[in-house]
Amino acid sequence: MAGKALPFPNLRLIRAFLLLAALQGLCTLDKFVVHGSPRMHLVDLKVADKKDNPLLPEISPNSAPQPLIPLLAPSPLAPFLYNSRPKLSGQCTLNFTAADSLIRTTAVDCWTSFAPFLANVICCPQLRSTVQILIGQSSKETGLLALGGTHANYCLSDVEQILGSQGASYELQKICSIHPSNLTEGSCPVKDINEFESNVDSSQLLAACKKVDAVNECCSQICQNAILEAATKISLRDGGLPSMDIARSLPEHSSRLEDCRNVVLRWISSRIDPLSANKVLRRISNCNVNGACPLVFPDTIVVAKECGNVIKNHTACCHSMSKYVSHLQKQSFITNLQALDCAAKLGHQLQKMNVSTNIYTSCHITLKDFSLQVGTQESGCLLPSLPSDATFDPSAGISFTCDLNDNIAAPWPSASLAPSSSCNKTVRMPALPAATSSQTDGDRREVKLQQLIIMCLAFMMLII
Ligand SMILES: *[C@@H]1O[C@H](CO)[C@@H](O)[C@H](O)[C@H]1NC(C)=O
Ligand SMILES: *[C@@H]1O[C@H](CO)[C@@H](O)[C@H](O)[C@H]1NC(C)=O
Ligand SMILES: *[C@@H]1O[C@H](CO)[C@@H](O)[C@H](O)[C@H]1NC(C)=O
Ligand SMILES: *[C@@H]1O[C@H](CO)[C@@H](O)[C@H](O)[C@H]1NC(C)=O
Ligand SMILES: *[C@@H]1O[C@H](CO)[C@@H](O)[C@H](O)[C@H]1NC(C)=O
Repeated sequence: MAGKALPFPNLRLIRAFLLLAALQGLCTLDKFVVHGSPRMHLVDLKVADKKDNPLLPEISPNSAPQPLIPLLAPSPLAPFLYNSRPKLSGQCTLNFTAADSLIRTTAVDCWTSFAPFLANVICCPQLRSTVQILIGQSSKETGLLALGGTHANYCLSDVEQILGSQGASYELQKICSIHPSNLTEGSCPVKDINEFESNVDSSQLLAACKKVDAVNECCSQICQNAILEAATKISLRDGGLPSMDIARSLPEHSSRLEDCRNVVLRWISSRIDPLSANKVLRRISNCNVNGACPLVFPDTIVVAKECGNVIKNHTACCHSMSKYVSHLQKQSFITNLQALDCAAKLGHQLQKMNVSTNIYTSCHITLKDFSLQVGTQESGCLLPSLPSDATFDPSAGISFTCDLNDNIAAPWPSASLAPSSSCNKTVRMPALPAATSSQTDGDRREVKLQQLIIMCLAFMMLII
């Protein structure tokens, strides 16, 4: 991914520096081997048990944030460059050349063994975006914003093959639950470009969506509203339904609306260049990603038994809680906003089971405890709310940016306080964790989340 601009200019330096520092230590994460965890300047100084850990960094509180970068590598090292020939059907007419840089990005985002862990936040949104853009671009030739059923089969299989030949998982259809039907018009009555443009105010749609503000779109919904409006219009094209409001409430209409939304996204992709289109599509999907906790919560009954009503034995309660949380830590990388959603969701679930004490505080459960853990020491990686793509470097392997590598207490939901909407959260937690001057405040738990996120940028390098 040479020449690919990182979102934070100073990261290149950090990365170069950390690469050198990164080859110390060894610990394991399931089937991966984690090399080193070189320097974490802003990691909580106060956690006593970390002090003795030889893998943990020196701390120099006045320097710019230096990130944690565990390097994941198989043992022995696998070849980094995948250049196998894809087995193509020869039947798909999508122009893969027109989107080749997009495809390379997607292959890295969905890199073999990481794909399941990056699926929700990075890999699958990027895969969906790529597929929409390929169809959008091809519509300039065909005049159609959807593929036919058989054609869709060939093309999806070819997409998977091409990505696989560049290092991506060959299981993407399964991992991302994307099916050939997702490449067709589904139940949307409009797929012809001319028909689309005669039903939709296309200049207004393009004006709203040709550029999407990464930070504000989730809140302002400027492009998303335009998409919804266009999707609603075309979904009603042959419906003869009396009014939009009634129509919207019908379940079959909601799936039709979703299918038409895809048609709209492809139309937008056909009107701007592939890289800009990818930005737009990823930023829009990011709003949905951050809106929901993707983790699967096992039954909380054991925790409720130890921690419910009056806590009889604090040790036993926290033990059951940390055991419970360890199940969550095997699932997936999540964003910091998702971690907040997850903390709230679990908290409500526990409260329903009569756990009334704030056991996040009493058992020291932090936001990063909800993330996939990298390595044996505590080193959860939360992705930024606006996650960047993974990058590939032949010598360093796969890397992506982590945020919030710190022990921020998970907020226990309060019954009286309605959770702030993700719209509000996004606005308060801007994407740019600019390396501001270090925070040397006493108790980190009292420092506002936002400041910590800004400070605690971590950069993580993964090699397989
Ligand atoms: C595919 O796209 C590339 C780059 O945009 C273009 O040069 C080429 O002519 C296209 N091929 C076909 C068959 O349309
Ligand atoms: C694909 O379509 C199915 C319905 O056919 C839908 O449930 C699923 O969410 C879609 N997947 C994607 C990735 O859009
Ligand atoms: C509390 O539970 C722990 C672990 O389950 C146990 O070792 C300890 O004896 C218990 N303490 C009391 C006072 O029951
Ligand atoms: C919660 O407590 C109430 C009253 O103390 C009790 O009636 C209820 O069964 C408890 N619920 C659970 C899930 O333990
Ligand atoms: C955002 O938060 C403010 C107060 O913090 C609240 O008044 C407002 O309704 C929230 N906006 C949304 C869209 O939830």
